[in-house]
Amino acid sequence: MDNVNVVRHPLIQAKLSKLRDRDTGRFQFRLILEELTALMVYEITRDFPVQRISVRTPLETMEGVELARPVVLVPILRAGIVMLDGVLSLIPNAKVGHVGVFRDAESLQPVEYFVKLPPDLGEALVIVVDPMLATGGTAAHAVSMVRQRGASDVRFLCLVAAPEGVRAFRRVHPEVPIHTAALDRQLDEHGYILPGLGDAGDRLFGT
Ligand code: URA
Repeated sequence: MDNVNVVRHPLIQAKLSKLRDRDTGRFQFRLILEELTALMVYEITRDFPVQRISVRTPLETMEGVELARPVVLVPILRAGIVMLDGVLSLIPNAKVGHVGVFRDAESLQPVEYFVKLPPDLGEALVIVVDPMLATGGTAAHAVSMVRQRGASDVRFLCLVAAPEGVRAFRRVHPEVPIHTAALDRQLDEHGYILPGLGDAGDRLFGT
């Protein structure tokens, strides 16, 4: 599929298998989800531009680098919030915006209930995160919210995607790259991903 990057690193695939396992408890689920996010971020930031800086080691001055553009991380509430620490462990000075969008259980349409974003989105590299890309409605809506507020360089990071969700997202945002650890088979009649990992929010928060 166009503009979809499935990261097949062995560590990522091994951790994802553990996350999928129904016997993985809440505490471990949360830890693995954070670790997996950090590994994914390491992979997907390879093309981030850097700028040269001067660094003084204890012995002499040398040329080093730093990220050239600010990074803004936008977790989609509520499961996306747990991915935050995974990203911040690698990019600690990233700014964080929040968007609250949930999927109406009957219509499966996105409903917006909260938005708070940093002001300078135009120059930032924006990563919108949610563990699951299911119908694609919520993710597409969240990315639209971010773009309407000035973001021009946006990528979407999830851990498990469904083909239906990728196609729906693509129709709205053909140029926004999707990074995922897995592209699963299909959605069931309730909008859950098969084989998937169940309801990420419920497994994280015990709801
Ligand atoms: N959201 C989830 O948490 N799991 C799915 O399978 C689909 C959407």
